[in-house]
Order: sequence, then C-alpha cells, then structure tokens
Amino acid sequence: MLRSVVTGVGAFLPETVVTNEDLAKIVDTSHDWIVERTGIHRRHRASEDQAVSDLAVEAAKKALAAAGRTPADVDLIIVATTTADLTFPATAAIVQRKLGCPVGIAFDVQAVCSGFVYALTVADGFVARGHSKCCLVIGAETMTRLMDWSDRGTCVLFGDGAGAVILEPGEGEGTVHDRGLLGFALRCDGTKQDLLYVDGGPSTTGTVGKLRMQGNQVFRHAVVNISEAVVSAAKAAGVEVSDIDWFIPHQANQRILAGVANRLGIDEHKVIQTVGEHANTSAASIPLAWAEGVSDGRVKKGDLLLLEAMGGGLTWGACVIRL
Ligand code: ACO
Repeated sequence: MLRSVVTGVGAFLPETVVTNEDLAKIVDTSHDWIVERTGIHRRHRASEDQAVSDLAVEAAKKALAAAGRTPADVDLIIVATTTADLTFPATAAIVQRKLGCPVGIAFDVQAVCSGFVYALTVADGFVARGHSKCCLVIGAETMTRLMDWSDRGTCVLFGDGAGAVILEPGEGEGTVHDRGLLGFALRCDGTKQDLLYVDGGPSTTGTVGKLRMQGNQVFRHAVVNISEAVVSAAKAAGVEVSDIDWFIPHQANQRILAGVANRLGIDEHKVIQTVGEHANTSAASIPLAWAEGVSDGRVKKGDLLLLEAMGGGLTWGACVIRL
C-alpha cells in the first residue's frame, strides 16, 4: 500500500530575540513569573519587513535540501498558518511563487495551533492516494503581529517562526513497521470559541484584530482533551503510546507538555521541548521542535513519532508517524 513518508525536515527562526526581561519593560510581569507559569525564557520576533511567507520559504528550503529535492519537484504546498500575508491569495500560493515551484496545488489550512497536525493529515490524503509525488507541508506564523502588547496574560506567551516537512510516496506493507503517517485523530469544539480567538476579521470588523484568551480555561481543557486524542491516534495507528520513540507536542506551555506526558505515562526524556527558547509559535511549533530533534541527532529514520496540538476553535488532534 502507498504511504506518505517524511523525507526531510527544516526550520527557520527570525533573528531578533525578545527576552522576558524585554517584556517586563512594557507590561507588569517578570522573568520568574513567566518561567514558573510557562517555561518560556525567550522568543523570536519577525522584523517589520518579514512576512510569514518569508519565514515559510526559508524553512521550506531547508526541508527540500534535507530531502534532496528542489523547488522544481514540488507539486503540492500546504501552509498551516493563522497569520497569512494577505487575506488572499493563500500564503501557500505566495510561497509557491517565491520558491519558484511549478504550477501545482497550493492552499492554506487554518486550524490555529493545531494547523500543522491538520495539514499533515490533509497532505497524507493526497500523497498516499498517488496525487502528489513531492508535497511541502509548512507551519509558519508571525503570532507577535496578533498581540495586544498591553495584555500581560497573552503577550508573553507567543513567538514567530516556521517549520516544514517534505512528504513523498513510499510503499508499505500495511503494518506498524511501515514508514509514513500511520494514524491520526482530529477534533474541534466550536462552542469553546470564546476561550481563545482573535477579535477581528475581514467579514466582521474589517480589521486584523488581537488575540484574546482565557488562559486558565484553555489550560483546563488542554491536558484531558489532548490525551484522549493521543490515545485515539495511537489506536488508529495500531500502536501503544509506550511504543513511541519521540513525543513532539505543540509547544504552548511547559506545564501542559509535562501534564500530557505524565497522564500518558511518557518518559520525560522522550519529549522534545523547545517552548523555553521559542515560546508558542502556533502551527510552526511542532515542525520547529521536530527539526531541532533531527539536527541534534535524537530523531532518526525508523523512529516512531507522536505529534499533538491544541489551539483556537477549539481545535486539537494528534498523529503517529514512522520516520
Ligand atoms: N505576569 C505576571 N502576572 C500575570 C501575567 C504575567 N505575564 N499574566 C497573568 N498574570 C496574573 C493575572 O493577572 C492573575 O492576577 P490576579 O490573580 O491578580 O488576577 C494571575 O496572574 C493568575 O492568572 P491566571 O490566568 O489564572 O494564571 P495561570 O496560572 O492560569 O497562568 C497562563 C496563565 C500562563 C496563560 C496559563 O493559563 C496558560 O498557559 N494557559 C494555557 C494557555 C495556552 O497554552 N494557550 C495556547 C494554547 S492554544 C494556542 O497555542 C493558540
């Protein structure tokens, strides 16, 4: 059977680093409070002339190089983002132009912080059914553009960045030993919108808006719901959570990461964590962490990966991938 196999991973962070001390100069907060409640030490911030597509293109170039592919090979681009360059065209179309890829399929997926997990499952549908030979899936965000810099409850939590993977078709036996996306579970509960949303948009206010969050309410939903999705994804993949080599969660808050790992009995040494250095980069956070695990030699071909995320919607989900 045809599987969609990840053949390359890449990531990009904008140069400017914003520390907790920097933020303590503009809102009533402290380095110690932020570290204790979130695990975040610093985050990267895109410069005014850097659009989200620019971050996406840099991550894509690295993923293509890792896979031994060029832009000419790419026939499908899916960008998971909630901070698009423009209302339209899709950021994926802009990335296609900037990379110089040929005419193919390109569109965005909007599931906020869960966007990368959603986008991977959509890409799997194309690749594992023979509709794409080289698919670029990107999670890219400029979350700092959505911040209300007077709201200390949100502005300390987010950062900018991008990560990308290349998916290519590969033959499998239909077993858990196959390389590829083995199983997933996706969820959305639209009744929880008020817990996390942006208060603007083209068909309501005509403005971009700012991120609003009831952080403690989101926190309460996170651990239980993410854990349920993880168990469902593992079941769909035909594996046990204990079989996982690396747990690569959405990097929202160190306490959520630890809570989910603890609830699922995942050893902390199996958790790839970048939240301390990147903060919450929404749809970019999983591929950013994944790329770090690959570049420091932890994550290797053949490993079984568990990805999970939760974000505005509320959306959440998990997937299991054999590298
Ligand atoms: N510095 C100092 N004090 C602060 C800060 C800050 N940056 N932010 C909030 N506080 C204060 C509050 O004003 C409040 O003060 P009060 O008691 O005088 O009213 C106090 O801290 C407690 O506020 P809570 O919101 O209850 O604090 P909590 O312990 O829940 O921590 C946090 C807040 C870090 C936001 C936490 O709720 C959290 O991480 N939630 C999950 C949010 C998240 O991960 N969202 C993203 C997931 S979805 C996505 O990725 C888009």
